[in-house]
Amino acid sequence: MSKYEARLDDGTDAAVPLFMQGQVRDTDGNPLAGAIVDVWQANTGGTYSWFDPTQSAFNLRRRIETDAQGNYRFRSIVPSGYGCPPTGPTQQLLDQLGRHGQRPAHIHFFISAPGHRHLTTQINLSDDPYLHDDFAYATRDELIAEIRFSDDQQLARELDVQGRFAQIDFDFELQLAAAPVEQQRMQRVRALED
Ligand SMILES: [Fe+2]
Repeated sequence: MSKYEARLDDGTDAAVPLFMQGQVRDTDGNPLAGAIVDVWQANTGGTYSWFDPTQSAFNLRRRIETDAQGNYRFRSIVPSGYGCPPTGPTQQLLDQLGRHGQRPAHIHFFISAPGHRHLTTQINLSDDPYLHDDFAYATRDELIAEIRFSDDQQLARELDVQGRFAQIDFDFELQLAAAPVEQQRMQRVRALED
């Protein structure tokens, strides 16, 4: 397996396998070889490793480097959407406003390449009932990823999976950085946890 192929899940979640791939390009359409794609997502329970101690370390979190054609590809699982903790203060506030606290299924990305602006983004999966009803208002038309489910068992064998699987093709575009600082992930002041 070459360096631009990765498997995100540790195999313990009996989920639908997901194969995602795409290209990272600049705004002129040139492929960006060696771009760094950091990807992380929730499991089928809607939780993230580290925050969810029942998951293995770094489960569903990987760093991938694009190949000479600017392509990335990885194997993972179809994530679930999730909501605010039902008894937490955010949901209590939303309850008083008569609003739900659900987010559609999504996958997070940091994408970076020398000379280009660091991109923090996420894609939302096209089949989710909350796609256009994200309580965090994070859905953008250009960030909706079409998810295709397949029962093609010949292709499944080639992909080394059994049964149903899903595929997403999604390309990213990086803008040139006007200043070196834009190549870095933005540093924000965060509240300390005690
Ligand atoms: Fe998330």
